[in-house]
Amino acid sequence: MRLLLLTALLAFLEWGQVRGEDDYCFGKDAERLQTRQFSSKTAYQIVKGTNIDKQYQVPNCEPKKMWIFHRHGTRLPTPSTIEEAPRLGELRDLIVKNYRVLRTKPDTDALCLDDLFAIQMWKWNTSITVDIEEHLTSQGYEDLRGTAKLYQHYFPNVLPNKYNSTYYLFRHTNTQRTTESFKGFAEGLFGDSQLALAAEIPEQDLLLRPYDYCADFKGKNYKGEGSEYQKFRTSTLWNQTMADIAKRLGFTVLAEDDIKLMFDICRYEQAWQVDRTSVWCAAFLPQQVDVLEYAEDLKYYYGSGYGFEENTRFNCRAVQDMLARLSSPVSPHVVAYFAHSSGLQTLLTALGINKDDVPLRADNYDSMASRRWRTSLLGPFAGNFVAVKYDCPSEVEKEKVVFFLNQNGVQLDWCNVGLCNWSDVLQRYKTIAEANCDEYYCRSGANAGQTVTSLLATTLLAAIVYLMH
Ligand SMILES: *[C@@H]1O[C@H](CO)[C@@H](O)[C@H](O)[C@H]1NC(C)=O
Ligand SMILES: *[C@@H]1O[C@H](CO)[C@@H](O)[C@H](O)[C@H]1NC(C)=O
Ligand SMILES: *[C@@H]1O[C@H](CO)[C@@H](O)[C@H](O)[C@H]1NC(C)=O
Ligand SMILES: *[C@@H]1O[C@H](CO)[C@@H](O)[C@H](O)[C@H]1NC(C)=O
Repeated sequence: MRLLLLTALLAFLEWGQVRGEDDYCFGKDAERLQTRQFSSKTAYQIVKGTNIDKQYQVPNCEPKKMWIFHRHGTRLPTPSTIEEAPRLGELRDLIVKNYRVLRTKPDTDALCLDDLFAIQMWKWNTSITVDIEEHLTSQGYEDLRGTAKLYQHYFPNVLPNKYNSTYYLFRHTNTQRTTESFKGFAEGLFGDSQLALAAEIPEQDLLLRPYDYCADFKGKNYKGEGSEYQKFRTSTLWNQTMADIAKRLGFTVLAEDDIKLMFDICRYEQAWQVDRTSVWCAAFLPQQVDVLEYAEDLKYYYGSGYGFEENTRFNCRAVQDMLARLSSPVSPHVVAYFAHSSGLQTLLTALGINKDDVPLRADNYDSMASRRWRTSLLGPFAGNFVAVKYDCPSEVEKEKVVFFLNQNGVQLDWCNVGLCNWSDVLQRYKTIAEANCDEYYCRSGANAGQTVTSLLATTLLAAIVYLMH
């Protein structure tokens, strides 16, 4: 009897200790703000704008045309991450052993009991194999079906629910995830994914995958030795963060690859099932996610953002395409492209959107806490840039545009609360509009240059015909 009491008392004490009242508990955090900080692996549903109601209606103007650049929705991991997945099972068992057997649970900032238990119960979905690497997930399909329905709800006259191949132009890259994203979008608009057709993919897809044809762009040092990304990842702050994460999970040392793997799976799982929580996200405290997010932002800032001046000139063709399509009075009235993260990011960079006054560096993490370059908000899964062109017959300026990024009106300082004069748009982007994209940054793919030039010529002709009527 006494033994029984003692055991019960010990169990109670252990429980109280394991529970650690002050420990952060991901499973019990109702807000989970760090899930908004997963960079390019952030779930669209978590960061999308919710204010479009107040931004889409423009007095005295009627929306007429749309130009959309859509990143694919949530996808499965790359082959290397899928192959590493069994390691997560080992890590799960090691963490549980640390806490329950080796008793290396830290005195402060330990996992709460709920989170530990959730990790213990975790299993990898073995249906996810390398032959379906990077495929769109069902949530990813829903992401696109949802954006189509949402934009159609706000712009029913621009996005009619009857498909018309003259009126609509769709195009996607040569991957499963963008093809399926297009289908999700088409289903959202027309109620059936089979109704719409996508344009043929050219052999050299310079419009949607220019980076495949530009050695300069791919070759620049944005994450290698000497880059700000590498400097940050060898800084005292980074090392301390890695050590803290290891300690929190009961390890004395833990390889950075293991930490990266846990963070990747946390981000994927969170995006695959938005309503649930990935147990692996519990491995990171919110302030540690801040640090991990900054490293990602640095990588993309130099990879596709303002970090290198050349990046602002890179997505020349997409900018020209947008300007030409929206200047033209004729169909297609809706142009929608389904592509990838670096295409979206370089487009924003070319347009000067969310540019910081001070460059992001390895050594200014603290002062960049409220930076504009936040890839989680700029380019999550299913991230989308939408230009809506308005006709305003009774205004001095008869053509206007609003740019939306993930359903938020883009604020540019030369526009009026998001509403821009089309003449100002043409003026602002004059240099890139008049550039020969083949020469502007990368000297490659002369063929595609002709396509854009002929598109501009067609547009001009159309405009003249229009004016003559
Ligand atoms: C496992 O992954 C497959 C492939 O993505 C998916 O179809 C299935 O729904 C997943 N199962 C669970 C339980 O999440
Ligand atoms: C398709 O759209 C074009 C203009 O965008 C229009 O001229 C044509 O009449 C439409 N066709 C049908 C069948 O609605
Ligand atoms: C951080 O750790 C790395 C690798 O272990 C090391 O090379 C680097 O010098 C450390 N940085 C600092 C500031 O101690
Ligand atoms: C747009 O053009 C009108 C008419 O020229 C002008 O009054 C207005 O200030 C312009 N808007 C912006 C934001 O510059």
